[in-house]
Amino acid sequence: MNPSWIEKGYVCEPIPEGLDLKAEIRRLAEEKNAVILAHYYTEGVLQDLADFVGDSLALAQKAATTTADIIVMCGVHFMGETCKILCPDKTVICPDINATCSLAESCPADRFEAFVKAHPDHKVISYVNTTAATKAWTDVVVTSSNAKQIVESFPKDEKIIFGPDRNLGAYINSITGREMLLWDGACHVHERFSLEKLLALKAEHPDAKVLVHPECKGAIAKVADVVGSTAALLKYAVKSDAQTFLVVTESGILHEMQRQAPEKTFIPVPPEDSLESEACSLEGAHTQMKCCACNECNYMRLLTLEKVYNSLVHEWPTIDVPAEIRERAVLPIQRMLEISAKLGL
Ligand code: 13P
Ligand code: SF4
Repeated sequence: MNPSWIEKGYVCEPIPEGLDLKAEIRRLAEEKNAVILAHYYTEGVLQDLADFVGDSLALAQKAATTTADIIVMCGVHFMGETCKILCPDKTVICPDINATCSLAESCPADRFEAFVKAHPDHKVISYVNTTAATKAWTDVVVTSSNAKQIVESFPKDEKIIFGPDRNLGAYINSITGREMLLWDGACHVHERFSLEKLLALKAEHPDAKVLVHPECKGAIAKVADVVGSTAALLKYAVKSDAQTFLVVTESGILHEMQRQAPEKTFIPVPPEDSLESEACSLEGAHTQMKCCACNECNYMRLLTLEKVYNSLVHEWPTIDVPAEIRERAVLPIQRMLEISAKLGL
C-alpha cells in the first residue's frame, strides 16, 4: 500500500479504468460478507448503494444485530466507533478515517472527565456524537431519536449532566421542564443555519412546513413545525399532507425525502454565509428539488464511492477501540439500546 495514502488516513488507489464501481463494491461486499451502513447525511450515491440507511440510532441498532463479518460505516468516525464497541470481534471500516465530527471534537474526554468528577452527584447523559473515550464517562448514551424519552426515564429530581450538544440539551430542557447541566458544545453545520433566510423562505412559501433538527439553535427551533432526528423529520415529511418543506438540517437527508416523496418539494435552508448562486452536490439531481447553497457536513462529504471501493479491497482503514475504553463505553450504549427497545423506539 502506498504510504502517502496511509499518511492521508485513507486508501485512495487509482481506480482501474472502466471499472463499474457500484457493481464492484456490491460484489466485494457479497464476497466478503460485508454490510454497508450509511447515514442520511452522506452523498446520495452512497445511500443508494448501502444495505441500510438510517439515523444515528438506527445505525447503532443495525450494527448491534448484524451477522456480517465486516461493517463498512459510511458515516463519521464516532459512528464507526459505536459499531466497533458493539461488535468488537468484527472488522469495522470507515472509508475515510478523517471523517470526524465537530460536535464530538467539542467534548474532549479529559475535559469531560474533569467536568463529571466536579459534579459527583449528577448522572451523566451523553449524545451519541461523542468519542468512545468520552462515552466511557457516561451513564447512558442518547441520540436525537430517543433523548427526550431517555431523559424522562430518570426521576424528575435527578441531577443530570447532558453533553456535548448545548442546543439539543437546551431543547430537551425546554420540553421536559428539566434543568440539566449542559456541556458547551455544538455542531458547526447545524449552528450555521440562518434564521433570517429561513424567515424569508417561510414568507415566500407560507404553506411550507418547517423541519428542524434539534442540534440547531433555539431561535430556529422556535419557528419549526416539527423538531426531530433525521429519521423523525423524514417520517413527518412523508406522512404530512403538506406539499412543500423547508429543511433545516444537513442537506444529505433531502435525497431520501425526495426518494420517498417524489411529488413533494423539499427546500434546503441555507447557512448564514452561503451565496445564492453557490452550487452543491444535489443540484439537478431531482426534478422537484430547488437546490443551491446547501448546508453540507464537510466530514460526511469526505466519503466517496472510490474510498468505499478501496476500503473494501484493502479492508482498511479499520476502527479500533482500546479494550479498557470499550469495556466502559459499551455499558451506556447498551443501556440506550435496552431503554429504546423497551420504549419501542
Ligand atoms: P441523527 O442521526 O440522530 O438525526 O443525528 C444527526 C447527526 O448530526 C449525525 O451526525
Ligand atoms: Fe458531526 Fe455536525 Fe457533521 Fe453530524 S453534521 S457529523 S454533528 S459535524
